[in-house]
Amino acid sequence: MIYMDKIVILGGKNLKGVVEISGSKNAVLPIMACALLAEGQYHLKSVPHLRDVRTMVKLLNSIGLTVQFNENEVHIESGHVAHYEAPYDLVKTMRASIYVLGPMLSRFGEAKVSLPGGCAWGPRPVNLHIQGLEQLGAKITIENGYIHAKAKRLKGARILFNMPSVGATGNLLMAAVLAKGTTVLENAAQEPEITALAEFLVQMGARIDGIGTSHLEIEGVDSLRPASTAIIPDRIEAGTFLAVGHIVGGDILIKNVIPDHVSKITEKLIEAGAEITEDSDQIHIKSNGVSKPVDIATAVFPGFPTDMQAQWMALMSTAKGSSVITENIYLDRFTHVAELQRLGADIRLDHNVALVKGVKNLNGAPVMSTDLRASASLIMAGLIAKGRTDISRVYHIDRGYEQIEAKLKNLGAEIWREKEPLVT
Ligand code: EPU
Repeated sequence: MIYMDKIVILGGKNLKGVVEISGSKNAVLPIMACALLAEGQYHLKSVPHLRDVRTMVKLLNSIGLTVQFNENEVHIESGHVAHYEAPYDLVKTMRASIYVLGPMLSRFGEAKVSLPGGCAWGPRPVNLHIQGLEQLGAKITIENGYIHAKAKRLKGARILFNMPSVGATGNLLMAAVLAKGTTVLENAAQEPEITALAEFLVQMGARIDGIGTSHLEIEGVDSLRPASTAIIPDRIEAGTFLAVGHIVGGDILIKNVIPDHVSKITEKLIEAGAEITEDSDQIHIKSNGVSKPVDIATAVFPGFPTDMQAQWMALMSTAKGSSVITENIYLDRFTHVAELQRLGADIRLDHNVALVKGVKNLNGAPVMSTDLRASASLIMAGLIAKGRTDISRVYHIDRGYEQIEAKLKNLGAEIWREKEPLVT
């Protein structure tokens, strides 16, 4: 018999106390891929213990790097590379594996990375990564489900993204730093994780102007050196705990957060009636658990993050009135809707727009987690639902939230993990 973890919550507890935010998943993944760019030793601190990070460790190991991951620290010894390939088995479990494409190609002149394919909420193409690398002079073919890229040495070019993509900006940055000449990335992503990546590359000896803006200029260098850093706090984990604080009517001090990275979320929470005070690296949220209805529309940074849309929907499901949630980044990212409805939420979906009518209360039920952020929204709903909520397939949550039950339990939630047999 195969068993899987499920999370069980007995709703209705008030949460109080302090929670410490972990390092950012989406920042550490591309930074680890940077180790492909230069030989030597890398040391990363504040690395969250997450399934995606372990997948990146496996991927770099399989390429031939020596990677050790203990106690929130990653040590990488980058020397001999066995082959230039990211296999389907790993890429299919983590789309961010595509981050090895740019650095591997620019350093070794060749890279073969499995095409990630779609995901639960849509196709999630990688055309911008491929087109950008082609503009830098790579010859790219798609063979047997793999992207096969070759280039003796990449050449700088002006690349205008038709939409800002976090992944394509990261990949192109890691490719351009070793290209010959100047690369300009226009309409680049400005997410804090991209800024963290660019700053790490600069520490490695890269020359990048315009960091933190949508216009990045990279002057290629002949070689780079290894570097070390501490990973920035995870803004989506922080945003999730802020939303938890409001939905349960809690009193929570969130430590290790960069308030500017979550300013759109705190702005919306204040509109929704939460009391928020900020310090340089912590945010205090206090709430009476009554949320006003507040519309959101997801957008690129500094707009409202798509990675918080599902959690906002959970919050609005018991708000005092109706709200409209518009998803502009991934138009199909709504697998949580049917599960929230099982808990009693009143949500009507029309394409990428959800109308959420706040109900008096949610009722516990068995539900299924369908993706990482959907799982977080179900946990939020379970925390206020009457009775018991069983959330199955929580391996999704382990991709992106470090010790979420322990952190919630520490705040007073009644939450635990159980094994359940996998029925296929
Ligand atoms: N897009 C294309 N072509 C491409 C690349 C992207 O059309 O080649 C489109 C996407 O379909 C989407 C938009 O561009 O409509 C933005 O996608 P982006 O490339 O920015 O997303 P990503 O790099 O694949 C990262 C995060 C996601 C987060 C998005 C948006 C990582 C590892 N993943 O994905 O995080 O939702 O940016 O902010 O950084 C999560 O953590 O739960 C998660 C899914």
